[in-house]
Order: sequence, then C-alpha cells, then structure tokens
Amino acid sequence: MDTEITYELFGPAHADELVAFLSGDTWPFHGRDTVEPDEARRWIDEGRFGGDDNRSFWITRDGERVGFVRLMDLCDNAPLFDLRIRSGHRGSGLGAQSLTWLTRYVFTEFPLVRRVEGNTRHDNAAMRRTFRRCGYVQEAHYREAWPAADGTVHDSVGYAILRRDWESGTTTVPDWDDARGTGR
Ligand SMILES: CC(C)(COP(=O)(O)OP(=O)(O)OC[C@H]1O[C@@H](n2cnc3c(N)ncnc32)[C@H](O)[C@@H]1OP(=O)(O)O)[C@@H](O)C(=O)NCCC(=O)NCCS
Repeated sequence: MDTEITYELFGPAHADELVAFLSGDTWPFHGRDTVEPDEARRWIDEGRFGGDDNRSFWITRDGERVGFVRLMDLCDNAPLFDLRIRSGHRGSGLGAQSLTWLTRYVFTEFPLVRRVEGNTRHDNAAMRRTFRRCGYVQEAHYREAWPAADGTVHDSVGYAILRRDWESGTTTVPDWDDARGTGR
C-alpha cells in the first residue's frame, strides 16, 4: 500500500503539540540536541513559526505527524528552512520528499523568490545528501561557524537551489574559479 504524505500548515491551536514534538525527541546537528518545553513555548510566543515572514508545516504520513518544517525569511528573495524528521522515521525518504515539496511550495507561492537556501553542519551527511538529491548545490563552506552546546566548534556548509534550475530541471554550479583575472 502506498503511504500518503501531507503537509499541514501550523497554527496557534497546535502549540501544545509542537512543544511536545520539539521537546520529545533529539535533534542532532542543531545548536543543541534537545529543546526544553519552556524554550519551545518561547519560540512559539516569539512568532518564529508563523507571521508574515515565517510559515511552518507538519509533515504527516498516514495521519501521523512525523516531521516539521519551518520556512523563514519568506519576505526576502532567498528564504531559508529548518527541517526535522522524528528520529524513528529518519532514513525512510521523508526528508527528501519534504525538501522537494517545500521547494515547490516556496517557488509557487512566492513568485519573487529567486532561490531557496539551507545551511547545515558539515558532518550532517544525511542533510547534505538530501540537499544533493533534491537539486540543491553547495555554495559555501564556513570554517568554525557552528558552535555546538558541548563547546566544540564545527564548520558549516551552505546549499541553495535557483528558481531557473528548478524550472528547467537542471543543476548549475557556482563559478569557483571566479577570482581569475583579479590578480589573486
Ligand atoms: C536530515 C534529515 C532531514 C534527512 O531526512 P531523512 O528522512 O532522514 O532522509 P531521507 O531518508 O529522505 O534520505 C535522503 C538522503 O540522505 C541519505 N541518508 C539518510 N540518512 C542518512 C544517514 N544517517 N547517513 C548518511 N546518509 C543518510 C539517504 O541515503 C538519501 O541519500 P541518497 O538519495 O543519496 O541515497 C533527517 O534525518 C533529520 O531530521 N535529521 C535530524 C535533524 C537534522 O539534521 N535536520 C537538518 C537541519 S538543516
């Protein structure tokens, strides 16, 4: 039987459920692996998940909420996102399907957006493979840009997809040799 994946807009009525979702799992490759319930509630109260600039969605498989995606900077021409799949459901294709969905959603709903961006820790192999699988291209490597809660510091990497690549189904890469002719 095919599974059905749907995306449901997050609203204030879902606050308690989101607090339980965020504080009830571990989230490797975020600033901290765990989120305290008070902190999650503060994020909701601050408007991080809704409003003009942000929109968030539950990722639901066969009626069960198995993930959450937050879109940020939607008023800008280059929005960002944060994608979280519940630990028991990782590695089963949900991340790639959700990234494909959110990319289409942003380009369709926001005609002025030219690119969608995402950053992750350099050692987050699953997220880096998800980016590549969905047509995102690495554009940046930031050295020592990702402090972790345990005091270690990691590199981070930046990926993006262009609207024109998404529309044409092609993947163009940055001109990494663009310093030629500048004397560098
Ligand atoms: C990163 C995350 C969103 C990926 O979603 P997912 O559902 O686990 O990934 P999928 O099953 O869709 O797999 C997508 C790709 O990642 C690869 N992958 C999945 N889990 C992996 C792992 N543990 N190690 C290495 N690669 C992995 C898959 O093989 C696939 O690559 P391929 O198409 O080249 O074969 C999810 O694992 C997650 O929520 N992790 C914790 C939070 C996080 O890191 N969020 C990202 C913050 S930017």
